[in-house]
Amino acid sequence: MLKPNIEKKLNYQINRELYSSYLYLSMSSYLKGEGLDGYANWFKIQAEEERDHALIIYNYVHLSGGNVVLDAIEAPPATFDGVRDVLVKSAEHEALVTSLINDIVTLAQKEKDHKTSNYFMWFVDEQVEEEDNAATNLKKYDLMGSDGKGLYLLDQELAGRVYKVPSPLATAE
Ligand code: FEO
Repeated sequence: MLKPNIEKKLNYQINRELYSSYLYLSMSSYLKGEGLDGYANWFKIQAEEERDHALIIYNYVHLSGGNVVLDAIEAPPATFDGVRDVLVKSAEHEALVTSLINDIVTLAQKEKDHKTSNYFMWFVDEQVEEEDNAATNLKKYDLMGSDGKGLYLLDQELAGRVYKVPSPLATAE
């Protein structure tokens, strides 16, 4: 069984991961409108990964005998101030998600809920990669993205991203 305060926090995190998915889908749509199909592809796959993050937590709550309560997801921004703005906002968003994951682990440890604390180590590791990906996208843009040719090459590189289930736990019954 999950303690009520942990269950509440996990439900909140399901909501935040679904919001992340919504935010990245909106970024993808904006980038597609700008003619950057490679960037749009990268963010669309990121949106799928975020949905999977939500499902991993959804599955964990069920496996732990808890109740999933799905709350409303607010609208993400519909437009952005260029590619760099998208990349800065995605990096900021990942830093925020990392702090939310850290809060879950901190609470689980305080409550001596070692199962939840241990389970969320996957997310602690995942956030290292998530923050690194966002920072790398921004760094590459700042190196090459300000001229058309460089932006074209970056867009082609990001077109190569393919979807992979981030963890088998996302598909657990
Ligand atoms: Fe679910 Fe990008 O963190």
